[in-house]
Amino acid sequence: MEITITGLTPGFAGEVSGIGITQPLTHAQAGAIEAGMDRYAVLVYRDQRFTDEQQKEFSRNFGALEQARASNITAPADRRLDLEMADVSNLGADHRPLARDDRRRLFNLGNQLWHSDSSFRAIPAKYSLLSGRIVVDDGGNTEFADMRAAYDALDARTKAEVEDLVCEHSLIYSRGTLGFTELTDDDRRMFAPVRQRLVRTHPVTGRKSLYLSSHIGSIAGWPVPEARAFIRDLTEHATQPRFVYVHRWRQFDLVMWDNRTTMHRVRRFDETRVRDMRRTTVAGESMTVEQLAA
Ligand code: OGA
Ligand code: MN
Repeated sequence: MEITITGLTPGFAGEVSGIGITQPLTHAQAGAIEAGMDRYAVLVYRDQRFTDEQQKEFSRNFGALEQARASNITAPADRRLDLEMADVSNLGADHRPLARDDRRRLFNLGNQLWHSDSSFRAIPAKYSLLSGRIVVDDGGNTEFADMRAAYDALDARTKAEVEDLVCEHSLIYSRGTLGFTELTDDDRRMFAPVRQRLVRTHPVTGRKSLYLSSHIGSIAGWPVPEARAFIRDLTEHATQPRFVYVHRWRQFDLVMWDNRTTMHRVRRFDETRVRDMRRTTVAGESMTVEQLAA
């Protein structure tokens, strides 16, 4: 059966059918998916009952996996999943929901802010692949914003203004926005800010996009309050409903997205319920500040 991709919104997000992705892919199938990603930026697959190993195997078709180290405050000994799996559930190692005041839960609430995965790493992520092993039926949607369309819709003056700006990204900033400031000195060293271009050019399509994220705390050369007000303004622009696809989870969905051209956030849900979401992340290949101005 041929791979078919059906658009879910005009030009953004597609649903893939005609392929079982828990099985090894042919070179042609992997290429068709990558081409689909370049076009849609978010792809949805239904009813894919992954083991962690199968999810990692599928993800490796698109590049090396990122290690989940340095992306949260969970001590290695307290991890529920291995280091190639980002645990975005609300669960502890005992598979039970974390207590309301658990530091790890409060830290993970940052996923409710619009962000791009690993924009706080010097070489940020290419793709994320999120598997819904146990989903909730009320709330807990994941929303995706198309940062290519958001860039295209800027007026010419704003496009010229953002073209060569460089932002500083850190988990310290995104968590600080929520009032989560109790980080250890080790956490602060681990989360030291990195620089990213505000405008990225996709390596295959050549399309430009806004590289926004709640991890941004400043713009190089700008006064901080002016930078934060501007970033907030751009984020409001970029996350208007016309740029957003809302994913309502069914159990065993796999959603993959291109972090270079999208932002996402999870919406609130009753956290006394189990929501077991497991992410693999495909590493990027270069620093955005090395990208030549187009
Ligand atoms: C992620 C994330 C959203 C969710 O996996 O990167 O932000 O729906 N999670 O849990
Ligand atoms: Mn995320």
